Formats: sequence, structure tokens, C-alpha cells
Amino acid sequence: MRMYDLIHAKKSGRALNGEQIAFWVDGVTTGAVPDEQSSALLMAICWRGMDTAETLALTLAMRDSGHRINLSSVPGVKVDKHSTGGVGDKTTLILGPIVAACGLKCAMFSGRGLGHTGGTVDKYAAIPGMKVELPEAEFIAGLAKLGFANSAQTADICPADRKLYALRDVTATVESIPLITASIMSKKLAGGADALVLDVKCGSGAFMATLEDATTLARSMVDVGKSHGMKMKVLITRMEEPLGWAIGNALEVMESVEILRGQHGSSVLARMSFRLAAEMLLLGGLAADLDTALAKVQGVVADGSAFELFKRFVALNGGDASSLDDFSRLPQATRQVEIKASQAGFVQSIDSRALGILAMELGAGRRSKDDVLDYGVGIRIHVAPGDLVAAGQVLLTLHASERPLPEIEPEWIRVSNQSIPAQDWLLGTVE
Ligand code: URA
Repeated sequence: MRMYDLIHAKKSGRALNGEQIAFWVDGVTTGAVPDEQSSALLMAICWRGMDTAETLALTLAMRDSGHRINLSSVPGVKVDKHSTGGVGDKTTLILGPIVAACGLKCAMFSGRGLGHTGGTVDKYAAIPGMKVELPEAEFIAGLAKLGFANSAQTADICPADRKLYALRDVTATVESIPLITASIMSKKLAGGADALVLDVKCGSGAFMATLEDATTLARSMVDVGKSHGMKMKVLITRMEEPLGWAIGNALEVMESVEILRGQHGSSVLARMSFRLAAEMLLLGGLAADLDTALAKVQGVVADGSAFELFKRFVALNGGDASSLDDFSRLPQATRQVEIKASQAGFVQSIDSRALGILAMELGAGRRSKDDVLDYGVGIRIHVAPGDLVAAGQVLLTLHASERPLPEIEPEWIRVSNQSIPAQDWLLGTVE
């Protein structure tokens, strides 16, 4: 078999068979296939797509390129959650302890951030002392003890995805439905959970800009998961403006803690986190209907048990749990700079992609994978779309270091005299 023939076949619009796909993925893992041939095939897949059988074969070949976690020693249904990536998305930090406090086993593997979206692992790493990459035995022990474990994926899981994702990142081949499906679902299947709630982001700040594409991606991931016995539910959620008031690692920990303490209960972030947690309870069989599931979720926030569980999780993994009660113990920026409205009016839009890039330039995110993060820096957003603001009112506070500030463009937060209707955060569901 020759890579040349696979590239030629896909370029010409023909489907690859399972054997061909396994040959490629194996060659990626061992290094036998050079990057230029994988890059060419990735680009051909981007243009020509893959059918369901090809997508499934690619997912399984990537899953089997490395180690698979076996969670069967922990009794009960294990539920995972994944988001396709949004700016300010800290729902994982919030819903993990909630789900576990409700009595369901929540086993999640998370990623580091790259580009304009952050990663859950970086947010945990902002907590002093916190160990974010757990050996498998510690992950499983934590899951058994607390009902909640969340760690960075270790290098031995889906090594083919690691290599292919790095190539996709530099060859403009990230935005492909079969490639995203295989990348996400191979890791989820290797992670060993029985059920998965997916949050597919849709909008200008997300990989999927239209509801049609987001729905196709959701369907593709559900088909792959279900064909491997995984219980699946997808929420398609709006990603136009950043999620919540915080962008930046320590700031996002603070906001997550505030929600776990019962603050900001009517915010989009709280409602989205609670709904995702409720969907996890439904998949895990802990509630018969959505209202019951939501009531359980709200119950463990109101009685403090979810926040208590989060503190135990942090302490178990070496983190300073007292920093969650006393935010001055979390990393802090050295200066704060206010960005004010130049005119009065209604906030029309907040550009999540631009603010995600701004946070990255402040040092909260990585431009390239070896960048070192500054956990204290980021952005506090003081307004939401639809808010009426006065001229001179503070829109953003930049939590910055001493490095020069990036350029701020006025149209990143558009203000005009037209009021706008409330926008729903939930755009659809797929199961
Ligand atoms: N997240 C992943 O893990 N892979 C993708 O391809 C896109 C988002």
C-alpha cells in the first residue's frame, strides 16, 4: 500500500477503506508516513469529506493508536462531557463537582488551550499546587473516592490525534467535520466513559459558524459514539459573545467558584452549566426527566455540597483549596486597565474571537504550543449584549502584566441606540 495512492484516491473524491485508513494512522503513529503526505491527505479530506464508514474507521484507528483507559473497577455509570471550544468556557469546572455531588461518577479528560480558546487544564493549573496531569491509577482512585476525576490526557492516549492535530493546526485543516469528529470521539472512546454529553459551539467564535454545520457535526459525533455503545446527547450552544464575565485562567476559576457558591444563577454561564450537568444526570439514569435533573443540580449548589466537593477535588490533587475561599491566594495580574464606552447606547455584540485573541496576547493563552502562560492575566467583561450603557462606562477591565498592551478595536464591543432582542443560548439538541 502506498500513501500516494490514498492521497490520489481522496483527491479524486473516492472513499478510503478501513485498511487504508488504518495504514495511514499507523504510519502517523510510528512516524513511517512523512508529514507532507499526511498534510496532503488532510487537505484532501477537508475538500472531499468522508462518509460515515470512513469517519468511524478513522476514529477507531486513532483510538487504537495508543492506550485505552479501563474504568470498570469503579462501579456505576461513568459520564464525560466535552465542549468543542469556546471563549470563557469554564463549564467543566462547574459541572464536574455538581454531577458528582448528585451521586453520579464524572470522569473527564480535558485539554490545554491553543489559540483564541482556553483549555480546562490551564484553568486548573492556575490554582497553586494543583496537579493537572494525573497518572491513570490516581485518576481512577480519585474517581472512586470523590465520584469526580478530571485530568489532562496523558501522551499515551491517541498519539495519532496529537500528531495529526498539530499538523491540522498549521495547515488550515482544523475545520473539517470528519476530522473533528474523529479527533474528539477517538479521545472520548479511549477515555473509557459510558456516556457523553457534548456541547457543540456554534457562531463566529466557534469552529462551526452555522447551525447547519454544527448540527451535522453533532450528528456525526453521535453516530460514532452510539455505534460504540456510548450513550450520547448534544447541546448546540451559541458562541458569539464570551461565556461569563471572565476570560483568563485565575479569573475563570474565580467565576466558576462564584457559580458553585450560588452567585450569577440567572447568567447564561450558570444556566448552560446546570443544563449540561442535568443532561449528564439523565444519561446516567439519576433522573427521570429534565425538571427533576435540574432540581437536583440546583439542590447541590444551594446546599453547598457541590462547592465542598470541588474543594476536596482540588486538595486531593495537591491544590491550595483555601485559594477558592480567598481569591487573593490565586495568581494576580500586576495592573488593571479599564476600557470605556465612547458613546451611550445598547450593547449590540461582544466579539468573542477578538477578546479570546486579546486574552491570549495578554498572556492567558498560547499562540504556539510551547508558550508559557501568565495565570493571573485576562479580561473582566462588565456588560452583556442588550445592556444599556452610558458614555464613559467601563466595558472591560484588562488584567495585564507589564508587557505592552495589544491594540484594542472599538468595534469589538459594538454599541448603538437600537435595543436588541434577548438571544437564546441553546440553539438545538441532537441525540
Ligand atoms: N477539539 C479536538 O479535540 N479536536 C478537534 O479537531 C477540534 C476540537
